[in-house]
Amino acid sequence: MFELPQLPFSKDSMPDFCSAETFDFHYGKHHASYVTKLNTAIEGTNYVDKDLIEVIKTAKAENNLAIFNNAAQHFNHSFFWDSLSPDKHDIGDKLMSKIKENFDSLENFNEKFTALASTLFGSGWAWLVENSEGKLEIVQTHNADTPITDGKNPLLTIDVWEHAYYIDFRNARPNFIAKFWDHVNWTKVEERMK
Ligand SMILES: [Fe+2]
Repeated sequence: MFELPQLPFSKDSMPDFCSAETFDFHYGKHHASYVTKLNTAIEGTNYVDKDLIEVIKTAKAENNLAIFNNAAQHFNHSFFWDSLSPDKHDIGDKLMSKIKENFDSLENFNEKFTALASTLFGSGWAWLVENSEGKLEIVQTHNADTPITDGKNPLLTIDVWEHAYYIDFRNARPNFIAKFWDHVNWTKVEERMK
């Protein structure tokens, strides 16, 4: 059985980015529902003995969408909450030098990431990932898709499904993304580097 994780902050700690009402829906209803549906879908199958990453990879390989979509959305949302912080963080030296090595400057990285998150058509996610050669990439995934099935190590993500921002920003996704930069947990992002 999978469980909805606790949020690593209080739901009213970043009202400029995600209000308590947004967390009530996005975390309390949407994320919770993915976990419930995942548990229902795996009941009585050989998926019950697997950890979440194994469930996602196996369901993808077997094209079992009922399991894959809910498992991947459970992973993606948990990863998103863990990417956030109420307070502004400094970027550590190790991560900063890697960003400069791959994107020339922090500004250039922010611009590229923002552009990919803004232009994703429909529902999905924008990610900073490490590829198998250790290089940083910015990628989009659609719907529930997640970079872990492409052999990439995710470092940072933003949810750009409409349910992530509609209560606070209506249809203005770029304004939601602009506020995201004030709430990235860069300490966590650096910890995720291999
Ligand atoms: Fe979401």
